[in-house]
Amino acid sequence: TKDVLILGIETSCDETAAAVVKNGKEMLSNVVASQIESHKRFGGVVPEIASRHHVEVMTLVVEEALEKANVTMEEIDAIAVTEGPGLVGALLVGVNAAKALAFAFQKPLVNVHHIAGHIYANAFVKPLQFPLLSLVVSGGHTELVYMPEDGVFEVIGETRDDAAGEAYDKVARILSLPYPGGPHIDRMAANGEDTYKLPRVWLEEDSYDFSFSGLKSAVINLSHNMAQRGEEIQPENLAASFQASVVEVLVGKTKRAVEELGVKQLVLAGGVAANRGLRQAIEDTFVDNEQLDVVIPPLSLCTDNAAMIAAAGTVLYQQGKRGKMDMNAHPNLDL
Ligand code: KG4
Ligand code: ZN
Repeated sequence: TKDVLILGIETSCDETAAAVVKNGKEMLSNVVASQIESHKRFGGVVPEIASRHHVEVMTLVVEEALEKANVTMEEIDAIAVTEGPGLVGALLVGVNAAKALAFAFQKPLVNVHHIAGHIYANAFVKPLQFPLLSLVVSGGHTELVYMPEDGVFEVIGETRDDAAGEAYDKVARILSLPYPGGPHIDRMAANGEDTYKLPRVWLEEDSYDFSFSGLKSAVINLSHNMAQRGEEIQPENLAASFQASVVEVLVGKTKRAVEELGVKQLVLAGGVAANRGLRQAIEDTFVDNEQLDVVIPPLSLCTDNAAMIAAAGTVLYQQGKRGKMDMNAHPNLDL
């Protein structure tokens, strides 16, 4: 059979990304232009600045992705683009670029959900096996997603307030660490110990939902109370205590879902999947489970990129799913 070449485009947040992927698993190129430096001084992503940066570099990023893959637009089978969720102005830049290319080169469009992309990042490691469970943890999402088969997604649990990455970034701010704070907390936690008593929020016994805002408030209260008493907080230990609480709940709920649903494969996904504490805990928890295949994506594929969008797009393309030429950006799109 003929090879399938998909051009992926991703602009949902603060990375402008394009990639060329062959047969849904071979990365011919993966170009990511990060805007982190432009947002750092504001302590978070500023939507208006994000859109403007995407517009400035979108064309260059696509050209570079094609060039690095040594592929022309004529050879591409379809263009896969993130239609949501994300910042509407940011998403629109990628969607419009994809539509323009689809129109100019007469190529089909495939609309991809950002979280589907994060999950399919694991297809670069090894073939996905179903039924599958994915723990999706990013700056905007914390979800347990059950997949009975390729291209079918059931969200069995999600956060009721802050996403895990959001909690990391907020706690990092309390510790005066630069944006995005997740990687800094991760590094500090490695040199600290779980000495501060922070809550584990499990919600109802049978729920797969998460809640991290209470944990964030507990960290704020703790640091205020200690400051009032004139005591100094030990930042490494606070980072380690916070991380221990997040990881314990994430892994605990994942373990229960793995057992109750009897899945064949567990895959980690999203920016927080880069977290060393979480990766280690997942490995340790399931090392003895011989029925379960555990996939943890390489660090470069955890955070936002377009190769993952092209990989998910390949499956949808092969299933005959197409985006319309009048497709729009959907900031609150459901999986
Ligand atoms: O998936 P992603 O790149 O963008 C979204 O779709 O949100 O995730 C970004 C999030 C940020 O909150 C960042 O702080 C977090 O992932 N993150 C980490 C680590 N690396 C990135 N959080 C904890 N530990 C890390 N090593
Ligand atoms: Zn993401």
